Amino acid sequence: MNDFVNQFWNWYVILLVLASIIACGVLLWTQSQPPPAKLDTTGHVWDETLEEYNNPLPKWWMWLFYITVIFSLVYSFLYPTLGSFQGILGWSSSGQWAREMAKFDEQTKPLYAKYMQTDLKALAADNVGMETGKRLYLTYCVQCHGADAKGSKGFPNLADNDWLWGGEPAQIVETIAAGRNGVMPPHAQLGAETIKDLANYVRSLSGLPADSLRASKGQEAFNSAGCSGCHGPDGKGMQALGAPNLTDKIWLYGSSEATISETITKGRNNQMPAWKEFLGDEKVHLLAAYVLSLGQAAGGK
Ligand code: HEC
Ligand code: HEC
Repeated sequence: MNDFVNQFWNWYVILLVLASIIACGVLLWTQSQPPPAKLDTTGHVWDETLEEYNNPLPKWWMWLFYITVIFSLVYSFLYPTLGSFQGILGWSSSGQWAREMAKFDEQTKPLYAKYMQTDLKALAADNVGMETGKRLYLTYCVQCHGADAKGSKGFPNLADNDWLWGGEPAQIVETIAAGRNGVMPPHAQLGAETIKDLANYVRSLSGLPADSLRASKGQEAFNSAGCSGCHGPDGKGMQALGAPNLTDKIWLYGSSEATISETITKGRNNQMPAWKEFLGDEKVHLLAAYVLSLGQAAGGK
């Protein structure tokens, strides 16, 4: 491929490269003339008697330099070095990545096929498999769920036993393969006072300090405003909808009254991307086992 719009730059580069290499050769030649009979010094003297001689380099060293000059000239003609000249050998790196990836996939296929046949729970206990699972995690999941998988605001912690969408093997596979969309509708229509009552009630559910009068009004609103339809009458959540358990100390967005009020007022819309198309069933399977192993390491079922 010729990237130069105009041949001028092509020749400019070619001439510059060749001229530099040849200049190196000429410099070497001028410096390799036999030493004069009389001692030649640069005229620098230190410590009264220490003089700097101006002798040529030793012959063997000189020849090493000549060899590099010859090598670079030969190389420049064999490989794409000079401007847009392709080189006599026609070597090219285009398609190399795709070829190497295809070869790699071919090599790892049997391994993934073996993992695919292993039950998810058994795979989660397989140290070698989990090394690969971890590498996949660090490549594809780390930017949202964090290097320690503990998540951050809006991105759930995967290294615990609390699940928005369920922690059974099949549920985790489904989450990763097809993605999830957590939708909490906005409830601004309830008005600021009721929302404040609800926020106090939600805080009281997990034992956080709350205004008890507001919390009891909030409890009524929780049922009448339809919160219980998704979060359950006892606020313990509903995995089919990805509605979080509000009675634990685990928060996706935060436990302050202000954050809870914001969640209720504006709602939330949160997307876990789907990976089946991009990664394929085998990698999804391995990642699901890895996520499962994280939960187990946290002391789960
Ligand atoms: C672009 C950001 C993003 C990336 C990348 C991402 N996730 Fe997620 N993930 C999310 C969000 C956001 C949620 C929460 C969805 C919700 O609120 O319902 C989530 C939820 C999950 C859940 C459900 C947790 C639960 O409590 O039920 C699992 C499991 C999960 N992700 C695994 C992964 C794996 C494995 C990868 C890598 C293949 C990955 N995620 C990559 C954003 C991401
Ligand atoms: C249609 C179902 C639905 C309804 C109705 C609903 N929620 Fe939610 N709620 C959700 C979902 C789903 C999420 C998680 C959103 C996400 O994944 O980002 C959520 C998140 C929350 C959170 C954030 C929890 C955290 O860990 O940060 C709070 C608080 C909350 N809801 C309270 C309420 C209250 C109070 C009501 C009633 C006014 C209500 N919800 C009504 C589905 C619902």
